[in-house]
Amino acid sequence: MNMLTDRYGRSIRYLRVSLTDRCDFRCVYCMSEKMRFTHRSKLLDFDELERIIRIMAGLGVRKVRLTGGEPLLRRGLTDFCHRLTQIEGITERVLTTNGSHLAFLADDLVRAGIQRINISLDSLQPERFRQISRFGNLDDVLEGIEAACRAGFERIKLNTVILRGVNEDEVLSLLDFALEKKFDISFIEEMPLGEVGRNRPSEYYSSDWIEALIRSHYRCSQPQTGSATDGPSRLLTLDAAPDIRVGLISPHSHNFCAQCNRVRLTAEGRLLLCLGHEDSLDLRALLRAGSSDEEIESALLAQMDLKPERHQFAPDESVSIVRFMNMTGG
Ligand code: 5AD
Ligand code: SF4
Repeated sequence: MNMLTDRYGRSIRYLRVSLTDRCDFRCVYCMSEKMRFTHRSKLLDFDELERIIRIMAGLGVRKVRLTGGEPLLRRGLTDFCHRLTQIEGITERVLTTNGSHLAFLADDLVRAGIQRINISLDSLQPERFRQISRFGNLDDVLEGIEAACRAGFERIKLNTVILRGVNEDEVLSLLDFALEKKFDISFIEEMPLGEVGRNRPSEYYSSDWIEALIRSHYRCSQPQTGSATDGPSRLLTLDAAPDIRVGLISPHSHNFCAQCNRVRLTAEGRLLLCLGHEDSLDLRALLRAGSSDEEIESALLAQMDLKPERHQFAPDESVSIVRFMNMTGG
């Protein structure tokens, strides 16, 4: 059987799907203050998305993550999640959200077959939360988090981008929040995607410093690289909470590309092979030109040869990729 495998022997098992580039937040690391979003007619519709995922499942993809922008803003989301449960081969259905609409949608998502979710949370201080997200309201997100706990996802993970001089002093309080709720948590170094209008290098905060800080407060085992589907995190295990996974995602300080098993589909249907490269396959054009499943399959297989060995983000760069994270599927 044909499988999506690249020149470096990496098998693609994991597809991240951006359902929209829109978001009700404008996080300072993700977007600029003024953003122009894609017109709806340019987004892949749910039939197109389902077809691509079905074809990729036939080529070995097992896990789908719905992202954005903010995926909960896409109308018809829960029906679409339900459709994913019908696609043979897709065994993991997960989602990443900013949490602002989770209070309304958490139960429906669980019923529609979403097994795990990641929720972005960069601060527990309302004023600061607002500054980082520009429009976000911490209380809405905390309510969303409570709703998610009650809804019964198999696992919940927090994603925290730490910026020097912005929220570095909240590493331990965010970690304690995660421990108390029995959530996993990943601390993420900012990636230079899109011109967000800040001097990124000056706010760079290395995950090595985060690790040192956590180790000075908690006894930990050595960080390990996770299993294939865990992706790019190095995992710290705290002796006090062995079931909780504390991830360090370090695009700058520790390159994680060797285990990369993922590709990304943008909301307008471009298949990106790597976060740090612009190469893409325009699947929307293929679909809308009436291509057969076999033609799409061949295009996907051919595209795999272009997956680069690794990304190269230089820590002194403010922007190395012009596309924004909300286009990319964060
Ligand atoms: N660098 C690192 N992570 C980012 N995210 C968005 N933009 C960036 C960036 N420039 C991540 C955040 C957010 C998720 C949706 O995408 O972790 O939680
Ligand atoms: Fe929206 Fe997530 Fe980007 Fe923040 S990081 S602006 S919540 S897509």
